[in-house]
Amino acid sequence: MRPDELFHFLFLPLLALLPFSSAFTPSDNYLLSCGSATNASLFGRLFVGDSAGPGSTFLSKDDHSVSLTDQKPPPSSPELYNTARVFTAASVYRFDIKKNGTHLVRFHFSPFSAHSFDLKSAAFGVSVNGFSVLSGFSTKATVVKEFILKVDGNSLDIIFTPSSSSGFGFVNAIEVFSAPPDLILDDGARLISDAGTQEYKNMSSQVLETVHRINVGGPNVTPFNDTLWRTWIPDDDYLVLKSAAKRVSTTHPPNYQSGGASREVAPDNVYMTAQEMNRDNSTINSKFNITWDFPVGSGGFSHLVRLHFCDIVSTSLNQLYFDVYIDDYPAYINLDLSVLMDHLLASPYYIDFVVDSSPSEVVRVSVGPSDLSSPMRMNAILNGAEIMKLVTLAGSRTIGKKRNVWVIVGPVLGGFVGLCLVVLLVILMVMKCKKKKLKSRPSESVAWTPLRVYGGSSHSRTSQNTATTSPGQNGYLGLRIPFADLQLATNNFDKNLIIGSGGFGMVYKGVLKDGTKIAVKRGVPGSRQGLPEFQTEITILSKIRHRHLVSLVGYCEEQSEMILVYEYMEKGSLKHHLYGSGLPPLTWKQRLEISIGAARGLHYLHTGSAQGIIHRDIKSTNILLDENYVAKVADFGLSRSGPRLDETHVSTGVKGSFGYLDPEYFRRQQLTDKSDVYSFGVVLFEVLCARPAVDPLLAREQVNLAEWAMQWQKKGMLEEIIDPNLVRQIRPSSLKKFGETAEKCLADYGVDRPSMGDVLWNLEYCLQLQENEKQREAHEDSEIGMQDLPSATTVPWVPSQSVRIERDEEGNGSSETNTSQVFSQLITNEGR
Ligand SMILES: *[C@@H]1O[C@H](CO)[C@@H](O)[C@H](O)[C@H]1NC(C)=O
Ligand SMILES: *[C@@H]1O[C@H](CO)[C@@H](O)[C@H](O)[C@H]1NC(C)=O
Ligand SMILES: *[C@@H]1O[C@H](CO)[C@@H](O)[C@H](O)[C@H]1NC(C)=O
Ligand SMILES: *[C@@H]1O[C@H](CO)[C@@H](O)[C@H](O)[C@H]1NC(C)=O
Ligand SMILES: *[C@@H]1O[C@H](CO)[C@@H](O)[C@H](O)[C@H]1NC(C)=O
Ligand SMILES: *[C@@H]1O[C@H](CO)[C@@H](O)[C@H](O)[C@H]1NC(C)=O
Repeated sequence: MRPDELFHFLFLPLLALLPFSSAFTPSDNYLLSCGSATNASLFGRLFVGDSAGPGSTFLSKDDHSVSLTDQKPPPSSPELYNTARVFTAASVYRFDIKKNGTHLVRFHFSPFSAHSFDLKSAAFGVSVNGFSVLSGFSTKATVVKEFILKVDGNSLDIIFTPSSSSGFGFVNAIEVFSAPPDLILDDGARLISDAGTQEYKNMSSQVLETVHRINVGGPNVTPFNDTLWRTWIPDDDYLVLKSAAKRVSTTHPPNYQSGGASREVAPDNVYMTAQEMNRDNSTINSKFNITWDFPVGSGGFSHLVRLHFCDIVSTSLNQLYFDVYIDDYPAYINLDLSVLMDHLLASPYYIDFVVDSSPSEVVRVSVGPSDLSSPMRMNAILNGAEIMKLVTLAGSRTIGKKRNVWVIVGPVLGGFVGLCLVVLLVILMVMKCKKKKLKSRPSESVAWTPLRVYGGSSHSRTSQNTATTSPGQNGYLGLRIPFADLQLATNNFDKNLIIGSGGFGMVYKGVLKDGTKIAVKRGVPGSRQGLPEFQTEITILSKIRHRHLVSLVGYCEEQSEMILVYEYMEKGSLKHHLYGSGLPPLTWKQRLEISIGAARGLHYLHTGSAQGIIHRDIKSTNILLDENYVAKVADFGLSRSGPRLDETHVSTGVKGSFGYLDPEYFRRQQLTDKSDVYSFGVVLFEVLCARPAVDPLLAREQVNLAEWAMQWQKKGMLEEIIDPNLVRQIRPSSLKKFGETAEKCLADYGVDRPSMGDVLWNLEYCLQLQENEKQREAHEDSEIGMQDLPSATTVPWVPSQSVRIERDEEGNGSSETNTSQVFSQLITNEGR
């Protein structure tokens, strides 16, 4: 039976008695079973799988997620909760909205463990239409989170963003549907405070999060029996004094009437049960309250307290007068339901109150007899209670909080070459100084001083930090870009200009006033969850510049915005050129050059700056291509400074992207630059095979590229699974070397993996083998053992020169011809 049929089956008999009500059918109604290719039902509602078929259209194509299935679900677990979608980077669901107005959005979270994911350790944020509703969220038990918000536009976007502490998030099911128009009204709520009671306006423009939904005096009401598929739970656990209350119920359906509550506001079952005062011989003449304490936690949020009443205790009109207190404030004195409900008993009614946060972290609701009650008829009732957090208010309150850490960046723009060179020289000198000072440096934290070059003096400003003695004092170029400029550049963050979702939000294409093309990475506004990544990225990008690292043009930190602005990379991501986009396939030579470029960028990260930097999220979407297909490594949001001289690893929470993650890092939570080498090995196989690192739609043994490719590499049959476009181009020797290089990168233990310097040299050798037949023949049998290759050591920072910079260290000059000499020497030496 379909849910709506079921609905009619259950309620039609009642509806016949109540001609003014009718069953509620939401105009927008989306139910998704996440991470599943099949449909699942829960309480008679059909949730459509989001991995295939009609359900898959809601997930943006460029998302960073995988489908996960519980291999051993508990026997009682609903089918809906046996799959989950796991997000390893910000990912978007988009729902078309047919009708503006209040909508309900529910997320079902039921963590399980499968493959390498323990969903109980996930931590992530969720935003709905740009508004952060969950941040740093994590759960060990099944929970449903419900939000009520007004949609004023043609779509509703839900973004899941992993926290940096866990690196992934998940969801089992999503519901998005229109609320009945009378669910949240703008007027009529009573704001309770020291100043007395005032009307609270514009409730419908608040974002509400359901905290408690209680069927007072009654049993559980499941979504099956609720008009809006809500769950109502009994109140007993919240009663401060259980003996004060007595359950009461009726078998007659309530008399709904206009001016009161409709059955969408709360279902029959809620109004047909209540708690009343428990009066016996000893208490018959005494006045007392029934009191409930509902925990709401800290955080300074206001709450909407909706109390439901239906007089099912009186035998005639004007018997029941009672008082309502919230947080000990008199919230409603002398409540007379029979007057409010136009002299009809058993008529549902609700009252909305808004209360500020209290230090006790509970919302306390009391009902007790009013002074108007006749002594023989002292009573008070409550049928239902809902407590909803006003997420919006607190959100806006945090805006404007000041941060003191500020870190400025050092970007260079095209038109400033002369100035840049001067600055680069300064940086070079600074870095030499820094290297000398390295051992005596007391702490990793360095204060940076802004010094603006971009945009002239129109918006230059000086920093509070000018007094600090940073080694970068004169060397770094600061760049704050006004928010207004970025609004202009991106046509006010036009959805059509979205070119991807990065580590902590959306990426837009834009053009600055001076014509510079930029990529604008905007954190979810108002949310602070990406802050550590934001700062990391600025800190790191301010320390380094390299031809093969994407450079930062500037940043904006205004009006609770966190925005990073990068050079625009014309050709997009490497992944984009490998598969799934229909672009012409890259040649083998192009792929090698791109791999070499990326390896060089990474090698520079690991060794080129004073402390060494571990990228932590190497993948084909983080390798970008400029208009000449020059590869640049992007997205340093997860980076950490590498081990100091006295350590061998950095211990930290597991981060990174599924399919690329170093198994050793995962096991031991220890980060070394060899974790990047592992991820890079996966990228190499991706380049060779032109398929994703994880493809859940493939046969089981093929899902994980690293495992799959290694099987064929070990059999010596790698050519069986390479991109068919490469089959005739790629020389066997080049393929052999490439396969070996990738294989070594994927060694189980970090110590067995080559350094990025070694990988780089081997890739260059692959290119030589491909390009230079003679050399190939001469040295075909020579094996370069990668561990035996000299590791490139710390390389001084050199401005964007030729790609052969590293050779300088070896004293072999920087020209192409010398490169082959280097190889000849190596081959000769190692060949013995
Ligand atoms: C799931 O339900 C949708 C909508 O009812 C339907 O179009 C689709 O064919 C179903 N898919 C499967 C696998 O049953
Ligand atoms: C909803 O409101 C937005 C802006 O207020 C408007 O652009 C859009 O057309 C409306 N959509 C519908 C379906 O009424
Ligand atoms: C309520 O909303 C109306 C229109 O949406 C606006 O003009 C008014 O200023 C708002 N009032 C408050 C108190 O926010
Ligand atoms: C729905 O409510 C009716 C009446 O209270 C009850 O008999 C029935 O068991 C409920 N069904 C479910 C699935 O909760
Ligand atoms: C209350 O009082 C009545 C009459 O005095 C007596 O019959 C009844 O047992 C008493 N009930 C209780 C619970 O004490
Ligand atoms: C009921 O609770 C309110 C608020 O705490 C209090 O002011 C009032 O005195 C109580 N009434 C009785 C009869 O205890």
